[in-house]
Amino acid sequence: MTQINIKNLTFGYDGSSYKLFDNITMTLDSDWKLALAGRNGRGKTTFLRLLRGELPYEGTITGVPSASLFPNDGDTLAPDWRVRKELNLMQADPDIMYRPFDTLSGGERTKLMLARLFSEDGIYPMIDEPTNHLDRVGREAVAKYLASKDGFILISHDRNFLDLCTDHTLMITKTGFELTSTVFSTWWENNETRMESERAKNDQLKKEMSAIDEAMKKNARWSSKAESYKNRGKAPGKVAEDHFRRAYEAEKARKLMSAAKNLERRNERKLEEKQSLLKDLERSEKLKITGTEHHSKTPIIFKDLTLMRGSNVVISGFDLEACRGEKISFQGPNGCGKSTLLKFILGQGVEEGVDFFGDIYFAQGLKISYVSQETSWLSGTLLDIAMLRGADKTQFSTILIKMGFDPEMLKRDASTLSLGQKKCVMIALSLCEQADLYIWDEPLNYIDIYMRKEIERLVRDSDITLLFVEHDKAFCEAVADREIVL
Ligand SMILES: Nc1ncnc2c1ncn2[C@@H]1O[C@H](COP(=O)(O)OP(=O)(O)OP(=O)(O)O)[C@@H](O)[C@H]1O
Ligand SMILES: [Mg+2]
Repeated sequence: MTQINIKNLTFGYDGSSYKLFDNITMTLDSDWKLALAGRNGRGKTTFLRLLRGELPYEGTITGVPSASLFPNDGDTLAPDWRVRKELNLMQADPDIMYRPFDTLSGGERTKLMLARLFSEDGIYPMIDEPTNHLDRVGREAVAKYLASKDGFILISHDRNFLDLCTDHTLMITKTGFELTSTVFSTWWENNETRMESERAKNDQLKKEMSAIDEAMKKNARWSSKAESYKNRGKAPGKVAEDHFRRAYEAEKARKLMSAAKNLERRNERKLEEKQSLLKDLERSEKLKITGTEHHSKTPIIFKDLTLMRGSNVVISGFDLEACRGEKISFQGPNGCGKSTLLKFILGQGVEEGVDFFGDIYFAQGLKISYVSQETSWLSGTLLDIAMLRGADKTQFSTILIKMGFDPEMLKRDASTLSLGQKKCVMIALSLCEQADLYIWDEPLNYIDIYMRKEIERLVRDSDITLLFVEHDKAFCEAVADREIVL
């Protein structure tokens, strides 16, 4: 058991006006299977970099074992048999380790990188979002594999996955870190209960404060009456009577004043209490998407379609009739040709290196908006990117700010964004486009749970036509009218 001691850690990126971490003190244990979670841009990846000493910070971090990071370039000093053994444990084909890395599918790469990470002895694995390219079966196999290991940090937005393979949860909330010795879902449920009771307390305080407010107003009215009586000019012949009356009013004014002070103090206390509530409540603002009203009722029809890459058959005997307003989910294991099919549709029958046989029909003048699986093409500032894509700058900025971006980020280079923020940028671009057909290839990779839920609501409530590939089961079930298994 090794303790990682973090004392008064403070960190903010150069040129950024806010601190990501402010005076954090905590102790972690490197034997834990530790889940590190939190919304996009909260600093999860940055936290790993700080633990590894890659960035300068204030405070101290001690006791971090020699660590190894995922994703990596796949190199290891461990003998081949060790890597083979780990691959076997992950139910992956051990021969993938002899193939050139860039010919492997996303899922295969993930498994190989993990196998290499765990074949070295005495290192502390830090795993940053391994699930994105894994299909459902792959996710389960990798979760089981990790559950059999001890001592690692794992970042993921997939709560199912985290529950299967971790025993402690470190959550980066709006106000700092929360550490629990439970799985993620338990943290989540406890947090929901806490927010629920804070909400109820908040409502009650609001009521009490408005009652105090009412009392204060009444008090003010009486005070000003008493005051005006006190200051009234003397009526001749009424001096004695006035003397008593004024003394009485003065006493009354004094009492009212003290009551007012009392009320004010009570109000301040309530306000203080109220301000301490709901600080960690995560909000997500409503997004909008507006497709066009294309005249064609069936934008795409394929009959007995075969797609070939060179002499390899990628897809064969494929039929599709997509109707306007339909949301169609394409499912299938890693490498079954989902992305190829989406790109073929995007090119309306033309995709580099792909030949086809069969009947294809695309409605005339079909305008398509595309979210690619890859984010690596994003470069330049966000405003430059918007301009290049022909997106309305104001609309684009508004969407990003609703997604939680800081206005200063719009002028920053896209390469400095977190992984989830990059994916948000791509979705925002698509939301700016009025299209007949939307094609989204794994739109939710790297996206946090709150944003996932908002995108789910957005798609469900809209009448756009959407073809998509996504491994998030809950999302597919909530939005897809139809699932096509390839
Ligand atoms: N080089 C940089 N310069 C300025 N800001 C940066 C830089 N790198 C990251 N940031 C910002 O710091 C914040 C934290 O980034 P980080 O990558 O740690 O987030 P994350 O929690 O890993 O998010 P995600 O879930 O999207 O991966 C983000 O707002 C990001 O835009
Ligand atoms: Mg990250």
